[in-house]
Amino acid sequence: MSIKAPTRRDFLAGAAGAGVLGAATLSSLSAFATPASHRAPGGRAGLIPYGSAVRADALVTDVAYREAIVTNCDIIVAEGEMKWLDVHPERNAYRFEKADALVDFARQNGIEIRGHTLAWYGAMPAWTAAIDSRAEAEAELVVHIETVVSRYRGQIPSWDVVNEALVDWPEDATSLRPSIWTRWLGADYLPIALRTTAAVDPETRLVLNEYDVEFRGARFDARRKALVQLLRSLRDRDVPLHAVGLQSHLFADRALDREGLQSLLRDVASLELDVLITELDVIDDRLPGDIGERDGRVAGVARDYLETVCEVVRPKAILTWGLSDRYTWVPTYFKRHDGMPNRPLPFDADLEPKPLFDVIEEFRGKFASRWTR
Ligand code: XIL
Repeated sequence: MSIKAPTRRDFLAGAAGAGVLGAATLSSLSAFATPASHRAPGGRAGLIPYGSAVRADALVTDVAYREAIVTNCDIIVAEGEMKWLDVHPERNAYRFEKADALVDFARQNGIEIRGHTLAWYGAMPAWTAAIDSRAEAEAELVVHIETVVSRYRGQIPSWDVVNEALVDWPEDATSLRPSIWTRWLGADYLPIALRTTAAVDPETRLVLNEYDVEFRGARFDARRKALVQLLRSLRDRDVPLHAVGLQSHLFADRALDREGLQSLLRDVASLELDVLITELDVIDDRLPGDIGERDGRVAGVARDYLETVCEVVRPKAILTWGLSDRYTWVPTYFKRHDGMPNRPLPFDADLEPKPLFDVIEEFRGKFASRWTR
């Protein structure tokens, strides 16, 4: 990877951090503080902070993308760079170059950074499959969380500690998605992960991040019900938890369940938990090809969703899972049959804002006066 026209400052920063895995170029990321970065911490006053998932490699190689992130984001979150697979590839080896670079980049630009994620079934390195006792599983989970969270203590104010705890179609709160953690620790992995994170960084907000809770249908009813039960059971046992993350991968061809979602959010609020929108995008694989029509439909789906949420709670943040259609996970799973590129994000592949961007901007301010907390 090379960076166009590096300044002397870039060069010095790069040389200072030179190491394996392209660390020289990655560490130079921290030197890209631009004037646009002199922002109020947490974003413009009165507005819900907006942010995006980012890719460290693209921030290094793609200047226009990097500038768009700095200009538009109050918050960033690593799309993959803080997952187990990335930071803990071998049992006794951690690899923090990319995560460090993102944390530095955020700090240098006055952007907040969220952590994602500590206890998930996905993106697990192969070595974890060899864990073969309860004691070993607990020790590995705890040491991992201690190592990662302590490295960024005081720098990551909010962690997705638990990601996607429930199976696709749960019966109740005990229907946990199978993982190396449930295999050896059962449901105990949740309090272990949450308590360990809280012990290591008592200031960070602990988030349980979940998906597919916004649509109409029996599966989504079951997911909403199981999620509330799970939150209650954690609360009943005094397990520390501050917020629920709604991933909000919105499928344009599924019907939103306004009542179901609002009832979930009222339950979440009654448990005194905050709500964050953590991974918003609109999955457009089944929408018409015409771009004007498609962008309008995508924005409309997000508008209905944000209105439904914001009528009941003021989300602490709205993050999309990527800023620009140039870098999106959507085609990996939801490629269009007509071969046209997906358009799930607020900026198009040329980094021009789309109607979805305007909708997010509108909702960031719309309910500002209604909500005080
Ligand atoms: C996805 C990333 O976007 C991909 O790049 C990666 O290969 C797999 O994970 N829900 C989550 C995210 O919580 O971590 C997932 O991110 C998308 C779905």
